[in-house]
Amino acid sequence: MILGAEMSRNIVLCFLVTVACGASAYGRKLECSEHREMECEISNFTIVESMDLSEYEFPDHPHLAFGTYPHSDDSTYVVTIGKELADRLQSTEKLEIQNVSLQTMVLWTNLRSLDASHNYFFELIVEPGQNYQLRELNLSYNRFQSIEFVQALPALRTLDLRHNYLESLSFSLFDMATELWKLNLANNRLQTISTDGSLHLPRLSTLLLHDNLLSVLDASEWRFSMLQELNVARNRLRYLSMCEVNHSFPHLQTLYLDENRWECGHLNATIRQLHQLGVKAMAYYDTEDQEHCNTAIDEICCY
Ligand SMILES: *[C@@H]1O[C@H](CO)[C@@H](O)[C@H](O)[C@H]1NC(C)=O
Ligand SMILES: *[C@@H]1O[C@H](CO)[C@@H](O)[C@H](O)[C@H]1NC(C)=O
Ligand SMILES: *[C@@H]1O[C@H](CO)[C@@H](O)[C@H](O)[C@H]1NC(C)=O
Ligand SMILES: *[C@@H]1O[C@H](CO)[C@@H](O)[C@H](O)[C@H]1NC(C)=O
Ligand SMILES: *[C@@H]1O[C@H](CO)[C@@H](O)[C@H](O)[C@H]1NC(C)=O
Repeated sequence: MILGAEMSRNIVLCFLVTVACGASAYGRKLECSEHREMECEISNFTIVESMDLSEYEFPDHPHLAFGTYPHSDDSTYVVTIGKELADRLQSTEKLEIQNVSLQTMVLWTNLRSLDASHNYFFELIVEPGQNYQLRELNLSYNRFQSIEFVQALPALRTLDLRHNYLESLSFSLFDMATELWKLNLANNRLQTISTDGSLHLPRLSTLLLHDNLLSVLDASEWRFSMLQELNVARNRLRYLSMCEVNHSFPHLQTLYLDENRWECGHLNATIRQLHQLGVKAMAYYDTEDQEHCNTAIDEICCY
């Protein structure tokens, strides 16, 4: 079904390309539009896989934007950024490429900030051994099922992956991400998060896992010494597996636990540990919308 829709979209795109190329057979300099001040915005342009881009001249600008998001833009499609184009965009440090039907992209080393939210993005291509500088990565509202690329991104500080198609994840992928500060994995389809050996993320301050399908969360190998906020609301959790809150998350301040399937004995034990540390379990969602439950500890339902 999805394939069919994509194929018909591609046919439409090919048609658009034919028209665009026909109008500019002798090359074309892409101009920055004047809507934005600090960025160079390129719109009214289409890039698809089979296209020969050698005729086109791209602006040499540290901050590029393809498309006009959040304003509506039906004229700009960048379905792929291949190796050839990535090489030519080396001087761009910040790229915004939202809502342009992006599917795949080759990363370049100088890129520090990438916002590719609201696309059909499923593959970010990295080469091993490259010194990638990427610090901020926004992939929200896309179609990622795996994120092996993070292993090549040791400078990463924020990673926003909410609203993607992740089903399982090995946190060991983040082994080298010692600068990682904020990780948002909310609104995926995560059923399992595994960790292969102990994992120390010394800067991680916010970890958002709410709105997934987790039934067990094994945090016993996690040492997130700066973690302040952990959100596991709206999963299927029965218990959190953890040696001691103080050991795994010594700086925890806020923990959202609501809308799970907590087993009362476990929840009670966890919440008592939290109280000793001065941390309150909180409800992320409005409890008034929640079904009435017979047993609750700190207003978190348990069964
Ligand atoms: C878009 O580009 C085409 C040529 O490729 C041009 O004819 C058209 O006027 C442009 N539209 C806008 C809104 O700039
Ligand atoms: C792009 O934006 C339009 C509204 O401007 C929206 O209808 C469409 O779903 C968006 N596409 C994606 C891939 O998010
Ligand atoms: C990522 O993009 C989404 C949608 O455009 C936006 O709402 C969100 O704030 C961005 N995340 C970060 C960390 O900037
Ligand atoms: C938590 O750990 C710190 C440092 O290791 C220690 O000083 C403190 O007493 C511990 N608190 C509890 C409640 O165990
Ligand atoms: C939680 O534990 C305390 C102390 O052991 C006990 O008094 C209380 O009844 C327990 N609450 C629930 C809901 O299990």
